[in-house]
Amino acid sequence: MLSLPLTLLPLLSLPLLSLASPLPFYQPHTSPAAALFRRQNASLPAVGTDAWTALYPSGSGTPSTIPQAWLDALAAAENSGLIPNISQSTLNSQSGMTTYPDGQDPTGTEVCSFTYQCNVTTDIVNPPEGVIALTFDDGPIPGPSDTLYSFLYNNSQHATHFMIGVNILGAPTQFLTAFGNNKDHIGVHTWSHPYLTTLSNDQVVSELGWTVQIIHDSTGGLIPSCYRPPYGDTDNRVRAIAEHVFGLKTVTWNQDSEDWMIGDGTTEEAVEGSLTNWVVDGGGVQGQGLLILEHELMDTTVQAFMDIYPSMKANWTVVCRSSLF
Ligand SMILES: *[C@@H]1O[C@H](CO)[C@@H](O)[C@H](O)[C@H]1NC(C)=O
Ligand SMILES: *[C@@H]1O[C@H](CO)[C@@H](O)[C@H](O)[C@H]1NC(C)=O
Ligand SMILES: *[C@@H]1O[C@H](CO)[C@@H](O)[C@H](O)[C@H]1NC(C)=O
Ligand SMILES: *[C@@H]1O[C@H](CO)[C@@H](O)[C@H](O)[C@H]1NC(C)=O
Ligand SMILES: *[C@@H]1O[C@H](CO)[C@@H](O)[C@H](O)[C@H]1NC(C)=O
Ligand SMILES: [Zn+2]
Repeated sequence: MLSLPLTLLPLLSLPLLSLASPLPFYQPHTSPAAALFRRQNASLPAVGTDAWTALYPSGSGTPSTIPQAWLDALAAAENSGLIPNISQSTLNSQSGMTTYPDGQDPTGTEVCSFTYQCNVTTDIVNPPEGVIALTFDDGPIPGPSDTLYSFLYNNSQHATHFMIGVNILGAPTQFLTAFGNNKDHIGVHTWSHPYLTTLSNDQVVSELGWTVQIIHDSTGGLIPSCYRPPYGDTDNRVRAIAEHVFGLKTVTWNQDSEDWMIGDGTTEEAVEGSLTNWVVDGGGVQGQGLLILEHELMDTTVQAFMDIYPSMKANWTVVCRSSLF
C-alpha cells in the first residue's frame, strides 16, 4: 500500500477537475465560517444516537436558540455594511409570491428576488453547455431517499443533496447512506424549510446555521459550500447573510421540473414530459447546461428522475453540482 501524508488522502478520491474548481465540495477548515461550528468536545456522539439528537433544537419552525458566536458574526457583517437594509417580505400563501413594503422592487438590482426570477452573477444557475448538474432537495426522507440513493449507487452516479436540518435529524440512516456510503455532496436547504426572505436577519442565521452545524457534526467536521433557498426564495439580504456570515454560495436552478407538485397540480407524466423536452429534445437553456430543480420528496419524484436518467447519461456529462463548476 502507498504511504501518503494524511492530508493528501481526501484530495486523491476527487475527480481531477474538482481540484481546480472555484467552488470545492466543502469549505476549507481555515475558512472564517469553520470557527463558528467547531465543537468543544473532540469526539461527537455517533449520528442517530440520543446524544446526537440532543445537540440540536427540537420542535418545529425556526429555532429560537441561536449561538452567540453566530449572532456576533452577523453583527460584524451588519456593522461593516455587508448586509443590505432590505425589509422582510410578506408571503401571500395562496400565490406563493412575496411582497416588499415601501415600494421596494423585488425585480430591481437592490432587492433582486429569485421568487421574481431575478439573478445575480454570484448565484449558481447555469452549468456549462453539455453538463447536467444533479441536485435533489428536501431529503433525507425514508422511502424515496432510500430508493434514490440505491439507484445512484448502482449507477456509480454522484449528486448534490440539499438537505433539510429537521429531516437529517429524523433520518440519520439515510443521511449516512448519502454521505458515507454514496460519498455524495451535501448542501444546505435550511433547518425548517421557510420562505427565507420573510425572516429577520437573526432567523436567517438560525435556519442556515443549524443546518450547517448538523452537517458539520455528522460528517466529521465538513462545512458545506452552498445552500439552496426553499421555494427559490432568496434576495440580496439573504444572499449576503449566507455569504458573509457562513461563506455559503446561493444555488438556484435554470429549469423547474415541478415534480414537487405531482398529485397536487401536475402529474408524473407532465413532469417526465418536461424532463424529456430539456434532456432529449434540446428544449433547455440555449448555450447552457441543465441545473434542474428536482426533489427526493416522494416515490413519484424519484421515479421521474430514474426514468429520464438513461437519456441523461446518453447525451450529457452528469455531475453533482460542485464537481464541474
Ligand atoms: C461534551 O461532553 C460532555 C461530557 O461528556 C457532555 O456533557 C456535553 O454535552 C458534550 N457537549 C457536546 C457539545 O457534545
Ligand atoms: C433600514 O431601513 C429602514 C426603513 O426601511 C429604516 O427605518 C432603518 O433605520 C434602516 N436601518 C439602517 C441600519 O439603516
Ligand atoms: C440496486 O441494486 C441492488 C442489487 O442489485 C438491487 O437490489 C436494488 O433494487 C437496486 N436499486 C434500485 C433502485 O434499482
Ligand atoms: C434568471 O435565471 C433564470 C434561470 O435561468 C431565468 O429563467 C430567468 O429568466 C433569469 N432572470 C432574468 C431576469 O434574466
Ligand atoms: C441523444 O440526442 C440525440 C440528438 O439530439 C437524440 O436524437 C437522441 O434521442 C438522444 N438519446 C437519448 C437516449 O435521449
Ligand atoms: Zn425544498
